[in-house]
Amino acid sequence: MHLLSARCACALLIHALFFCQVPLLSSFAVKCIQSVRGLYGETIEIPCDPFIQTENAMMIKWKYEKKDGSPQDLIVKSKDQDALMTLPDAFKKRVSMAANSSLLLSDGKLTDQGTFTCMVVTSTNIFEHQNKLEVLKSPEGLEIFDKAQELEIGKLTKLGVCTAKNANPAAEIMWLKNNQALMDDGKGIFITKDVKVDLDTLLSTTTSTLKYSAQKEDDGAVFTCRATHIVGEPVTSWITLTVTYSPETVELLVTPQDPLVEGDNMTLECVADGNPAPTSFNFHLKGETIKVENKNVFTITNVTRDASGEYKCSLIDDRGLEASKNVTVNYLDINLRPSGRIEKLAGEALEVTLQIYSSAAHSVSWKKNNRILENEPKFPKIAYSDSGVYECEVALGPLSRKASFELVVQGAPVISSLSKHSSDDGKYKVLTCEAEGFPKPAVTWNINGTLITESPFSNGKIIQKFAVVPSENLTVQCTVSNKFGSDSKSIDVLPLLKDVTFKYQDTHVSRDQTKLVVGVVLGLLVATVLIGLAYWLYLKKSKQGSWKTAENENGSSEEEKKLEEKVEENSQKAEV
Ligand SMILES: *[C@@H]1O[C@H](CO)[C@@H](O)[C@H](O)[C@H]1NC(C)=O
Ligand SMILES: *[C@@H]1O[C@H](CO)[C@@H](O)[C@H](O)[C@H]1NC(C)=O
Ligand SMILES: *[C@@H]1O[C@H](CO)[C@@H](O)[C@H](O)[C@H]1NC(C)=O
Ligand SMILES: *[C@@H]1O[C@H](CO)[C@@H](O)[C@H](O)[C@H]1NC(C)=O
Ligand SMILES: *[C@@H]1O[C@H](CO)[C@@H](O)[C@H](O)[C@H]1NC(C)=O
Ligand SMILES: *[C@@H]1O[C@H](CO)[C@@H](O)[C@H](O)[C@H]1NC(C)=O
Repeated sequence: MHLLSARCACALLIHALFFCQVPLLSSFAVKCIQSVRGLYGETIEIPCDPFIQTENAMMIKWKYEKKDGSPQDLIVKSKDQDALMTLPDAFKKRVSMAANSSLLLSDGKLTDQGTFTCMVVTSTNIFEHQNKLEVLKSPEGLEIFDKAQELEIGKLTKLGVCTAKNANPAAEIMWLKNNQALMDDGKGIFITKDVKVDLDTLLSTTTSTLKYSAQKEDDGAVFTCRATHIVGEPVTSWITLTVTYSPETVELLVTPQDPLVEGDNMTLECVADGNPAPTSFNFHLKGETIKVENKNVFTITNVTRDASGEYKCSLIDDRGLEASKNVTVNYLDINLRPSGRIEKLAGEALEVTLQIYSSAAHSVSWKKNNRILENEPKFPKIAYSDSGVYECEVALGPLSRKASFELVVQGAPVISSLSKHSSDDGKYKVLTCEAEGFPKPAVTWNINGTLITESPFSNGKIIQKFAVVPSENLTVQCTVSNKFGSDSKSIDVLPLLKDVTFKYQDTHVSRDQTKLVVGVVLGLLVATVLIGLAYWLYLKKSKQGSWKTAENENGSSEEEKKLEEKVEENSQKAEV
């Protein structure tokens, strides 16, 4: 007996599959209780004791007992006889007994809940097996009523009523804000729960009401109502919240930002918060008020320095809320003196002044003939090389101003050098005359000759190379002149000795010439040797003493050397 009662106690546990078995010795019925759950509207199977071989039972009886009422027989089946049904109206057409003695109850209802007892009578014993039936039903969806989609900031408002209908047991409802569970805190969050039971169906409807005091950050928050039930997955429904509030701040933005310069299009933008955001604004432009609607910008094109000053913007209906900004329109003006083309005489002074009128720090750069200058140009004494186009550029942010002048240096030409040298083949002499002056000087020579090259005239400088073939001692004069005056210089040029050498070589080549010709040539050779010797002697003398020749100008020493070589060469040949 002790063993038996222990087993039956276990059978009271919900869902536990413990069954009762009474030893054959026992002569009285034993009650055992098991819990059975079925789904609403479905067929529910209530098993008899599976440990009993019901095929050999003399009788199987199913009894039913409501929570309040007395037990009532449903089905009695004696061995080898049809089942005898004495069903109350509530069970009509819904109850049957399976071959394995289970009671099958179709279209389960909450009103069916109660205790179903299976009694098995065998030849030796009576068993009783009790099943406590519970009928479960998940809620019919989830709905939110009385949704408040716009909440005024800080005002406790009913946000919604969430309902999970017709469930058993009653569904649990919770509220979440952005997936975070909300708890009633008695301040900003109030949650009230209510469960109503339908007297006919006994189904429960759960209602949960959320009252909420919204903050600015709650704008756009998603409030979810979630119902959970032991049958089925949780169901949810949600509200997206809009928090309304009147504007609290206003800001004035000015573009472009620093530096704003003359010629820019200045855009004023009035930015206000609030939900819904204000759509109309007043712009106060230095005394003048302009109203704009359905936009928050106002543009002033091509601003000038006069536009500098204080600007404000405000809300049309709330003048107390306004923003202001001091705007500076940067400007840049320059004045360069001199300007245009100016002509100056070499040696004079020129004053350059650059005046800058600007509203802010700026940079200055100079160029001469498009090449950058390190410093601002200064002309205490103008030289021909100062000629050129001078340009200054002053910049302030995106603003840039340029000015320029062209300096033309004029004056009478001056010969800076006059020199001479023999041509590479020794056939002529090259005279080089270098002069400075502006306008371009004309170069003339006092003897007949050939112009070899003339340099381009630049920075007031010109170089001319002139070829002469002197047959005698010459004094060559180079003269340069323009409308401002002229200059000249002269240089002495010795005749070329080349002719002699040339003739000697000639005789050497043509052997068939007459003896007379040979004789003349030999005579000339002797004469050359003599001249050479005489010259050599002069040179020796001039080196010992300080005998001066007119050849002491540029190129003369070179010429002397050449001559010396020639004399030596000739004397050697004469010896042969
Ligand atoms: C009893 O029989 C019914 C129908 O034939 C079946 O659905 C059920 O699983 C059986 N129960 C047991 C415990 O064998
Ligand atoms: C200023 O606005 C005018 C007209 O809208 C436009 O033609 C001009 O290009 C703008 N100027 C600048 C500097 O953006
Ligand atoms: C901008 O204003 C200046 C001075 O008022 C004027 O010279 C210039 O032509 C204007 N530019 C444009 C694009 O309107
Ligand atoms: C603008 O300048 C005025 C006068 O200089 C000054 O009273 C005002 O406070 C300034 N406003 C701002 C926004 O700085
Ligand atoms: C230059 O040559 C011309 C003729 O060719 C002659 O008339 C003139 O006298 C010569 N001048 C000099 C300086 O030799
Ligand atoms: C040429 O000059 C040289 C040296 O200056 C002199 O020795 C010579 O006699 C001169 N010849 C003539 C023809 O004047």
